[in-house]
Amino acid sequence: QQAAQPAKPKVLKVGTDAAFAPFEFQDEKTKEYVGFDIDLIKAIAKQMGAEVQIQSMGFDGLIPALEAGQIDIAIAGMTITEERAKKVNFSKPYYKSGLTILVKADNNTIKSFKDLEGKKIAVQIGTTGAMEAKKIKDAVIREFNNAPEAFMELKAGGVDAVINDKPVNDYYLSQGGAKDAKTVGDLLKSEDYGIATAKKNTELAQKIDKALDEVIKSGEYEKIYVKWFGK
Ligand code: ARG
Repeated sequence: QQAAQPAKPKVLKVGTDAAFAPFEFQDEKTKEYVGFDIDLIKAIAKQMGAEVQIQSMGFDGLIPALEAGQIDIAIAGMTITEERAKKVNFSKPYYKSGLTILVKADNNTIKSFKDLEGKKIAVQIGTTGAMEAKKIKDAVIREFNNAPEAFMELKAGGVDAVINDKPVNDYYLSQGGAKDAKTVGDLLKSEDYGIATAKKNTELAQKIDKALDEVIKSGEYEKIYVKWFGK
């Protein structure tokens, strides 16, 4: 006679773009996906009695992958926008973010957003940074597959500035990028990150919000926050 097997936990397919430290990136040694978003979605899934299977893809492919049912959840430092909310459900905001401008460390001519007119700007394809950059008069916008490629282009001198999420820019500067780049001006825009699910999957969206509340209440969110951003 065989002992009854415990019920298998449900596996949630989670999509991200794992080149956005400290929210999601690949650990160099273990090759595992790590970061604030990864810890948070694992905590949320655990609260729901589920497990996650994480896959990385281009940021601009996440919403199509949700719509096609290839993934159940997207967590990728994704800003809640009206445009995107027409296509997917967003959880409650889980992180307060915004955009900043990076220029070369020795640049003394670009001091704020208005100095970007006519300049060359690197952004990541499909991001709010790209949308902001496209509003700048006469600017030449160079779109890259991920944020690290945009940083590299700035370092190489191919562009005058990068517009990207502040916490990701700050992390890059703190990890050695400060010898090549610096932030100028104020926060361009403040933004909220949300966890996205397919429009028709309202049940999952509700479960995620409930689990997120629990993860906040239990102090788990705070722990994850301190782990990645300090106090
Ligand atoms: N917050 C920005 C947006 O939603 C950029 C997000 C990029 N995320 C990533 N994992 N590459 O457009």
